[in-house]
Amino acid sequence: MNSLTIITPDDWHLHLRDTPYLQAVVADSARQFGRAIVMPNLVPPVRSCEDALAYRERILAALPANSNFEPLMTLYLTDNTRVQDIEAASDSPYIHGAKLYPAGATTNSDAGVTDLGRLARVFEAMQKHRFMLQVHGEATSPEIDVFDREKVFIDQSLERIRRDFPELPIVFEHITTRDAVDYVHAAERNLAATITPHHLLINRNAIFQGGIRPHHYCLPIAKREQHRQALLAAASGGDRRFFAGTDSAPHSQQAKESACGCAGIYSALSALELYAEAFELTADFTHFENFMSRNGADYYALPQNQGSVRLERQSWEVPASLPYPDSELIPFKAGESLRWKQMIDD
Ligand code: DOR
Ligand code: ZN
Repeated sequence: MNSLTIITPDDWHLHLRDTPYLQAVVADSARQFGRAIVMPNLVPPVRSCEDALAYRERILAALPANSNFEPLMTLYLTDNTRVQDIEAASDSPYIHGAKLYPAGATTNSDAGVTDLGRLARVFEAMQKHRFMLQVHGEATSPEIDVFDREKVFIDQSLERIRRDFPELPIVFEHITTRDAVDYVHAAERNLAATITPHHLLINRNAIFQGGIRPHHYCLPIAKREQHRQALLAAASGGDRRFFAGTDSAPHSQQAKESACGCAGIYSALSALELYAEAFELTADFTHFENFMSRNGADYYALPQNQGSVRLERQSWEVPASLPYPDSELIPFKAGESLRWKQMIDD
């Protein structure tokens, strides 16, 4: 197979940052995707409808002329999120969920949730309005091994949320383990998961290959090979509860290459090509279009996109770096060659 044409895909988990960084990255996503669920972990976070709608306007203003890219906004849950914030957001056609960051779990999560018990009324309102909960699924107690955090979160937190709010629709974001794959497969309803291109393509060895590789550091951290294999099987296996969400998360070169480097991989430059690269490893593209372009829209109860995108088997080299305000941005697979290339028709 040398050519792939699919319905224009969506990115169900994306970090676009804010001005002036937003302007440096948004065109990459807009070139490949029709829509994206935009993460709210700005500083300060996107906590209210007003915040989300103002951020949306900044994103729209930063898009290239003639782009139809649609940012789907989210709220950032804190210990102090109010029921009326959820009610207002669920009435808005532009806001598509609220993100749970356990406090301290990842970049800009300090304002996140310290105690799930405090969110009972908020979850109740979300359940009532069928308003999506997007979950960063990692337990945060410092004594928990970093490679076990996703599994512990399932056992200690996700199971409890699902038991107490069985009608609350949840997306388990950027899953990284066989445990998470099995947990989603086993769920009867109201649970789906996004999978990133980097977790399909690298295991934890890539973080330490010949030295420490900060550009392979993200959260949740990449796991053992057996987990990557489980993710590949989930993405390509036809269960419609798995879909693409890049978690593309730009940080400046200095912020990554530092004594205490930030978590985040910039995959948006070539996300579609990276997913094709991953599916190629399974030698089975049967469910590629569903994973990229249908499953997420169906789960979010949104229409599928109208247009299409085309990829051809053509080797090309990912640039070593990209312009970024006051710095450079190092894309995932910088300097390496990829086997699939998006063809842009004029
Ligand atoms: O690696 C990550 N980077 N994981 C996250 O959960 C957040 C993201 C970011 O915002 O940089
Ligand atoms: Zn993320």
